[in-house]
Amino acid sequence: MKQFRHKDIIALRDLTKEEIELLLETAESMREINSRDIKKVPTLRGRTIINLFYEASTRTRTSFEIAGKRLSADTVNITTSSSSTTKGETLSDTALNLLAMKPDIIVMRHSVSGSHYFLSKKMPNCSVINAGDGTHEHPSQGLLDMLTMKDRFGRLDGLKVAIVGDITHSRVARSNIQGLTKMGSQVFVAGPPTMVPPGVEKLGNVIACATMKEAIQDADVVMMLRIQQERQGKTLMPNAREYARYYGLNPVNLKMAKPDAMVMHPGPINRGVEMSSYVVDGDQSHILKQVENGVAVRMSMLYHVCSGEIE
Ligand code: CP
Repeated sequence: MKQFRHKDIIALRDLTKEEIELLLETAESMREINSRDIKKVPTLRGRTIINLFYEASTRTRTSFEIAGKRLSADTVNITTSSSSTTKGETLSDTALNLLAMKPDIIVMRHSVSGSHYFLSKKMPNCSVINAGDGTHEHPSQGLLDMLTMKDRFGRLDGLKVAIVGDITHSRVARSNIQGLTKMGSQVFVAGPPTMVPPGVEKLGNVIACATMKEAIQDADVVMMLRIQQERQGKTLMPNAREYARYYGLNPVNLKMAKPDAMVMHPGPINRGVEMSSYVVDGDQSHILKQVENGVAVRMSMLYHVCSGEIE
């Protein structure tokens, strides 16, 4: 029997193939709840979840809140602009003060890579879930992306997945690389040389391509990434039009992928830059399906950190 043995979910790098499979299988069964008239089960009744977001979010924050509510947990949302962070409180002090209120799970997004490991050490009796940390990982996004691919192909092993764009600053790319390579997919990455980190091949079964064409040729999945201007610190591309010309997905270059290839993007999308609107809204786009799967995946994550045997 598969068991989830972690207090926290901080990175897909920390999970085994079997644990990832378990999270995806549980998400598949959680989906049924989301299609009911009354979308609520008592699974996490009496549990308290704090969503602590130090960075902006639409999809992740909302779906973690919905996921918690559908499992009957009490959910509280804190964003930086409405917290005492604006008065200079440190993450350490915020953690200790929140811990004094005895939450069961803290879901955090933070701009500092690795901040969740720091938070977890302060909270031996509270689970920590990473909703995105700097350029490190975004495990719930990686899981919902894998679930969406599994829905489409019935498997993950043997898939050719092309990830195109700002690989260097993308925590989504890192979680997908960690998860997909454990599940047997082959990942091809491409982007402007200023946006692909040296040694990216060492992250898993990854091939760095010199051109976008090479990456998407015969791909089963084409995943486009947003340019993370907020993390770049300096301009890494001449301008948006140049970027769209060499690294944007449009109906013409999409034809290089397999005819039934699925198109994905974690959002938010810069239409006309990394993808044309024809592709975003086209038949091959699974972008809104990704968002839909985000609720079930986050229900699975909340359930397993509360129910699993603690290591
Ligand atoms: N994909 C993603 O993380 O979106 P948000 O920033 O809106 O949460």
